[in-house]
Amino acid sequence: MHQVPLPPEYIDLSPLATDERIRTAKKNLGESTVVMGHHYQRDEIIAHADFRGDSYKLAKDANINPDAEFIVFCGVHFMAESTDILTPERVKVLLPNLAAGCSMADMANIFQVRRCWQDLATVLGSATTVVPVTYINSAANLKAFVGEHGGTVCTSTNAPTAVAWALEQGEKVLFFPDQHLGRNTGVRLGYDPSEMVVWDPFKPLGGNSPEALRAAKFILWKGHCSVHKRFSVEQIEKARQEFPGIRVIVHPECELEVVNAADENGSTEAIIRAVVNSPAGSKWAVGTEINLVSRLAKENPDKTIFCLDPQICPCATMYRIHPSFLLWVLEGLVEGEVRNQVSVPEKVQMFARVALDRMLTVCA
Ligand code: 13P
Ligand code: SF4
Repeated sequence: MHQVPLPPEYIDLSPLATDERIRTAKKNLGESTVVMGHHYQRDEIIAHADFRGDSYKLAKDANINPDAEFIVFCGVHFMAESTDILTPERVKVLLPNLAAGCSMADMANIFQVRRCWQDLATVLGSATTVVPVTYINSAANLKAFVGEHGGTVCTSTNAPTAVAWALEQGEKVLFFPDQHLGRNTGVRLGYDPSEMVVWDPFKPLGGNSPEALRAAKFILWKGHCSVHKRFSVEQIEKARQEFPGIRVIVHPECELEVVNAADENGSTEAIIRAVVNSPAGSKWAVGTEINLVSRLAKENPDKTIFCLDPQICPCATMYRIHPSFLLWVLEGLVEGEVRNQVSVPEKVQMFARVALDRMLTVCA
């Protein structure tokens, strides 16, 4: 479905009027409608979220309200797709702005992955088992590919468990689309970066020799997150100089050197837990999306909390969920009109569900 332009009356509304009308619409919809919000959403959206979480929690809790008919998902497209796959057919999932995608998820498509898979089969032969693992930040048809080929989905919360499981099923892992989460996970499991090659989908054999592919334990897709790529070792050193005793925590989508230079790394949920559970007076430099870091700082006034990169902007695609879109979608439901539904075709759902269920079982 294509994005319908937002009617001008929604664009012209003041923030206060928008907020009030969202509250009224939610009240009118009652239990039938659940609003879910990823931690990276702006405060004006989180204020209306019935549930908030990282991508693992939101997938796990997709059916948290079994009476819901509609889930309005404030996050990005792949998360709404996962929710659609994990909920019964009668539940409709709406994404307030269909243009809210994820630039990392767009770095791998089904044609490229199928091509890679064929090339690997040719080079490695049938005696070598490669297990595909896709980060949840990927299109539903890639999750289906993984489900169909004996692999699993992972999130930043459970990547080590998922990848360790994959390595029990076969000799090698093909990890897409985020090379950094793949590399950080491999290192965390005790592998050396020299056992990993990067697959560039725009080069023959991904830019590798057949020997390098045969020797590698991990084949990492050449994808990255443009938000997390901004964090650097220099920023960490500067934070440590300016705030002696500070703790540095980053998301595992950051580069390996950054993860190594930090004190801790983890998903957004893990970052929140570490900061919230630290004693009053603690100092934290955080390497993740700014909406989350600013909210953490606001909700924990007894601690010093700041983003490692002072110049960073919000994740551009998450930011596309503006309150006006949320209002437009909710008022549509009040009027009986379903706007911006994300509906994964049943053919794709079948194997994508296999991969997501495998993750939820293996990593429970
Ligand atoms: P989480 O797994 O922490 O939700 O992160 C998702 C994401 O898109 C990070 O950029
Ligand atoms: Fe995608 Fe990065 Fe935004 Fe997460 S922060 S949704 S990985 S672009």
